[in-house]
Amino acid sequence: MKFSTLTTVAFATLASALNIVITNDDTFATANIRAAYHSLKEAGHNVFMVAPVYQQSGKGGTFNLPTKPTLEKDGEFGSVKAGQPAWGYEEEDNHIWYTDCTPAASVSFALDYVIPNFFAGVPIDLVIGGPNEGVNVGPAVYTLSGTVGSSYYAVSRGIPAIAFSASGDEHIYYKDPVHGYEINKDNATYPANIHAKKIVELVNALDKARGDNPRLLPLGVGLNVNFPLVGSEVENNACNNPEYVNSRLTGGAWQLRVAFNETSGAFGMNILLGDQVPGINAALNGNPNLPGETIASAANTCKASISVYSVDYDANIQLEEETRYLFKSVIA
Ligand SMILES: *[C@@H]1O[C@H](CO)[C@@H](O)[C@H](O)[C@H]1NC(C)=O
Ligand SMILES: *[C@@H]1O[C@H](CO)[C@@H](O)[C@H](O)[C@H]1NC(C)=O
Repeated sequence: MKFSTLTTVAFATLASALNIVITNDDTFATANIRAAYHSLKEAGHNVFMVAPVYQQSGKGGTFNLPTKPTLEKDGEFGSVKAGQPAWGYEEEDNHIWYTDCTPAASVSFALDYVIPNFFAGVPIDLVIGGPNEGVNVGPAVYTLSGTVGSSYYAVSRGIPAIAFSASGDEHIYYKDPVHGYEINKDNATYPANIHAKKIVELVNALDKARGDNPRLLPLGVGLNVNFPLVGSEVENNACNNPEYVNSRLTGGAWQLRVAFNETSGAFGMNILLGDQVPGINAALNGNPNLPGETIASAANTCKASISVYSVDYDANIQLEEETRYLFKSVIA
C-alpha cells in the first residue's frame, strides 16, 4: 500500500460500462468484496472499491472519518500495517482503496475525495454495499448494519444503491492460502464467486431495463438483497445459482432486546421475532402481499430476496393526518 498523488486515470470506455463504487463493513480485505469487484470489472464495468480498513460491522449509518494521518494498529488480517497512511490505494490497482472510515463515510470518501481528486469526478451510477458476511434482513438492520448503512447513505445522496448480504458469515481474508479468493478465483462452488455472479446478473438487468433513463433506480430508492447459503456451503453443492425472488423489508422482521443473565451478572442480547415486535411489522408502507425478506431469504431456500426500500422516513399522508390530529392542541 502507498498513498501518493495520482495523475488522472483513464476509465473504462465500453458504452455499457457503469461507474460503480463498492464498499462494505467487513473490510476491503475480505473475499466477498474482492470477488464482486473483479467480476464487475470482468463484466466491463468501471469499479472503484473504497472500503473500511477495520471491521465496521454494527455501525449502521455512523459517519466516522480518519482522525489521524496514519493507522494506529494493523488493518484487518494485517492487510495494511500500523504506521501506514490511514487511507490509500493498492500499488498494483489504484481502483482499490482502503480507508479508516465507517461504511457510510467510506461512500462519501469515495464520492467527495477519491473520485473528484483522482478520477476526474466521473459520475457514479451505482453504489454497492457488500456482499456482507452474514444476512441483513428486516428494518432493524437500517440502524445496525454498516453494509446497509453505506447503501442508504448513497441513496440519500441521490445515487442508486444496492446492499448485498450473504447467509455465510465466515470472515475470510482474500489472500488466505486455502479459503481466500485469490486461490479460489476459478472455483465454481466458492461462495464469494457465486455472490459475485449474481451481483453482475442483477446490475446488468437493471442497466438493460432502464432504457434511456439515466438512473438505474428511482430517486430515493435502493435495494436490499440477501443471498441464501450457496456453493460449498450447501450439501452436494446443491445451490450454485440461487433464484431471485421479490420480498419486502417487513413481515416476520426481528428486533433486539436486552437480556440480563442473573448467574453471570452480564447483559446479553436476545432477538424478538414477528408478533413480539408489532411496530416493525406494521406494514404501513410496501406491498403486504410480498413475503418478508426475513422469511424469503432463509439460508436453505436457494432463493435470493430483493426488497425495495426508500429513504423517505416520513409517515404517509394518511397516517400523518391521523397522527397530527392527536397533538393539534399544541400546534400554533
Ligand atoms: C472451492 O471452494 C470451497 C470453499 O472454500 C472448497 O470447499 C472447495 O474445496 C473448493 N474447490 C476446489 C476445486 O478447490
Ligand atoms: C448465563 O451465564 C452463565 C454463567 O456465565 C452461563 O453458563 C449461561 O449459559 C448464561 N445463560 C445464558 C442464557 O446465556
